[in-house]
Amino acid sequence: MQMSVPPSDHERALAFDIQSIDQDFLDDPFPTYKLLREHDPVHLNPDGTYFLTRYEDVVKAFRDPAMSSDKRVDFKPKFGDGPLYLHHTTSLVFNDDPYHARVRKLMSEAFTPRKMDELDPVIEGIVERLLDRLKELKEFDVVHDFGLALPTEIIADMLGVPEQYRSKMHHYSTLILGALDPIVSPEKLKAGHEAVNEFGELLEELIAKRRKTPHGAEMGEVLVSLIFGEADGRKLSPVELVQNCIFLLNAGHETTASLVSNGIGTLLEFPDQLQRLRENPDLIKTAVEEFLRFQSPLQIGNRKATEDVVFGPEDNRKTIPAGSFIHTCVGAANRDPEIFEDSETVNIGRKPNPQIAFGMGRH
Ligand code: HEM
Repeated sequence: MQMSVPPSDHERALAFDIQSIDQDFLDDPFPTYKLLREHDPVHLNPDGTYFLTRYEDVVKAFRDPAMSSDKRVDFKPKFGDGPLYLHHTTSLVFNDDPYHARVRKLMSEAFTPRKMDELDPVIEGIVERLLDRLKELKEFDVVHDFGLALPTEIIADMLGVPEQYRSKMHHYSTLILGALDPIVSPEKLKAGHEAVNEFGELLEELIAKRRKTPHGAEMGEVLVSLIFGEADGRKLSPVELVQNCIFLLNAGHETTASLVSNGIGTLLEFPDQLQRLRENPDLIKTAVEEFLRFQSPLQIGNRKATEDVVFGPEDNRKTIPAGSFIHTCVGAANRDPEIFEDSETVNIGRKPNPQIAFGMGRH
């Protein structure tokens, strides 16, 4: 009788394939991240893309000038010339300088600390309203009724979206972002194209109204600054304006919903930390940094190498060739034990905590 020998950890790491991740990985990717970080930190997938899991390598990919975010070539086969292509190739995150720098500058001026301070009472009001509503319910879904509702309301206020359209915003965002998944059905692609068109038309109406009534903006609205703001002597064109407003919804709401929901989930999973926070509410700032580290909302980012670039630990350097697509695994980097002591443990008072959940570098 022949006995099959189970594969070693090293062999399992080498066999990882980003295109065939399963439900176990989606439920808990961290054991796989650990395996890759320890046995194959600059991992080559069967489709020719690379998967980075060490902190130092992910930081390098975000900072190195030889890394591009421009997706005009990569998105063409998937999206054709449709609205999803227009959207994703116009949003600042999937562009390099000079376009990226110009839109980024204009956005930074719309999101000044003073503007953000203006939002404080708006956010407090939204939180109180949501909590009052929850109090009336016998049971509720923390992700849907609080985690998602909170950023959706905030971003709707930032973009001046009237009440009656708000319930559709999460739906638009899911369809537009879902189209970025590695495998997408034709039905989902069609729904994604329609979502860009529908939300785009709504934003065009809101923008036209605000152009006529710039002084009618409510507290915390950034739309007015995005319409009239200038960077390098130029305003955003109508298409740039609409597509980057759609991007603001997508960028801000799913990520923040994950942070809020995972933060609550983490405290429930680690009751000692919940108790610690109750006894020391001042720890909330370091606690949020720890939630961002432990369950990073954006687990996997990406870049493309425009030149050959060397990655990996000193004793195992590998050159990623120019033209390669790279998955930057922020979720794995944020649990790298070379940087974070007891990296698989939650410590809401962790200091220092150089987590990179917001990425770094130019973007
Ligand atoms: C917990 C909350 C959030 C997390 C973890 C997060 C994470 C990230 C990450 C990792 C990137 C960089 C992507 C890359 O370099 O490829 C990014 C970019 C961006 N995010 Fe967020 N984000 C959050 C909330 C928000 C919010 C609330 C907004 C605005 C309403 C926002 C707007 C943006 C914008 C405009 C960019 C593009 C920046 C650029 O390309 O220069 N994000 N975010």
